[in-house]
Amino acid sequence: MKNIPHDYYIKFSDPKVSEDVLDFHNKGNFTIHDCVKNISSLHNLPEHLLSDLTGNELQIYPDMDITTNEPILDTLATSSPLYRNQSCDFFDASGIAFESIKKLISPLLRKDETTNKRGYPSAGALYSVEVFCCSLSPDNTWPCSEKILHLLPNSRKFEVIQDSFDNSLLTEAILPQGHKIGNPSVAIIYAMYIPKTLFKYRYRGYRLALMEIGSMYMLADLQCKHLNLKSRQWSGYTDNMLCRALGLNPTLFFPSCVHLIGA
Ligand SMILES: Cc1cc2nc3c(=O)[nH]c(=O)nc-3n(C[C@H](O)[C@H](O)[C@H](O)COP(=O)(O)O)c2cc1C
Repeated sequence: MKNIPHDYYIKFSDPKVSEDVLDFHNKGNFTIHDCVKNISSLHNLPEHLLSDLTGNELQIYPDMDITTNEPILDTLATSSPLYRNQSCDFFDASGIAFESIKKLISPLLRKDETTNKRGYPSAGALYSVEVFCCSLSPDNTWPCSEKILHLLPNSRKFEVIQDSFDNSLLTEAILPQGHKIGNPSVAIIYAMYIPKTLFKYRYRGYRLALMEIGSMYMLADLQCKHLNLKSRQWSGYTDNMLCRALGLNPTLFFPSCVHLIGA
């Protein structure tokens, strides 16, 4: 069977595993919708405490000076291709050429015709994470009127998400009210497809897919720098709204990270 219908994986999935993972995953759903603004808040930690608790290093023996006698380690040279830019704090709505988007996702494709291997590692070569490229700006050049494209990494093509002409639902799902991030031009959404994620490694597959997403967005992040594009990973969205905007079933597709891109 060359192109397996996505439902086919359900045949090999254990419903108990799927249900447990869905329950756990839903506990991490970030709800920022208007309808809960008076009954929910992220945290009540004061600024000074938050600043102590973030951006630091974790020492196993904080009261003992038991580091090696080596001089301090060299940092990565800024000229290195692995040296990443800082995350963009504000996107100014500039449009992006679709040619840049094609280059941006190139590390996520199958390497060549002789292999199914891609530019990132995947436990058991499951490749259980789907990539959606979404146009958020009318100034982008885009190949079709639909705003959402699903990457087919082996065919090296984009599948057009049907009826995705209006991106207002998508923008509303990605960017919460009162956000200060400006206007990103493109969003790349990394969503694990649960039946494919769990059928082989069961609960452990969830962990493996999250790690796969990390290596995918890191490659895309470095490629942004190479292409002179700004980027920021983003988790401040509500999964169900995002699935609705993508036309996906939220019990089968878990959008696990959004990658905001701008020129
Ligand atoms: C998985 C992931 C999710 C993130 N989600 C958000 C987010 O929702 N909002 C935000 O402002 N920054 C988000 N960030 C960006 C981090 O805040 C940022 O990477 C961190 O502050 C370090 O700064 P740097 O990327 O400039 O080095 C996210 C980063 C990662 C890796």
